[in-house]
Amino acid sequence: MNKKSPLEPELNTVAVNGVTFRHQDIYNVIDDFYNRIQQDSILSVSFRSVHDWPEHIERLTHFWWIRFGGHPYLSTEYNPVTKHFFAGFNHNLLERWLGLFHQTLDDRLTLQQSHLWKLISERIGNSLSIKNEMYLRQYSKK
Ligand code: HEM
Repeated sequence: MNKKSPLEPELNTVAVNGVTFRHQDIYNVIDDFYNRIQQDSILSVSFRSVHDWPEHIERLTHFWWIRFGGHPYLSTEYNPVTKHFFAGFNHNLLERWLGLFHQTLDDRLTLQQSHLWKLISERIGNSLSIKNEMYLRQYSKK
């Protein structure tokens, strides 16, 4: 059973490259995914800084919602590069994160939605990796 998304914007659908997502679709994926993260023996350790899971899930639902072009309804300040660097982000963790995320997309969405979101998540993952490498180099110089 899906839970109702606690914060739903008035305009509650977005379209990315002709593929439509309801706000509730995004919430269902994110809620399910972070429940899986909490059960994962390795990724749960990386996420030990998160104490308020419902708040994290709402914040990340909003992140994807605005990423897909939806109107912001929470603060839009995200600082993923620094946060990931300090959470110990690396290639292996990213592969595991993506594996779990893509499985959740397949379980929750239509083929078209899942395919598109996989591509977008891989692109963000690559960009996080490159920036994380730059941080690593900067910090190791000090
Ligand atoms: C494509 C892959 C990923 C995406 C799109 C993503 C996205 C995000 C975003 C948007 C946030 C919120 C940042 C903020 O509040 O400013 C976040 C937080 C977080 N991510 Fe990721 N993430 C990815 C992979 C990973 C991986 C591999 C790890 C493992 C280290 C990770 C660990 C975390 C943690 C621990 C937080 C919470 C930080 C905190 O608020 O204390 N993420 N992620």
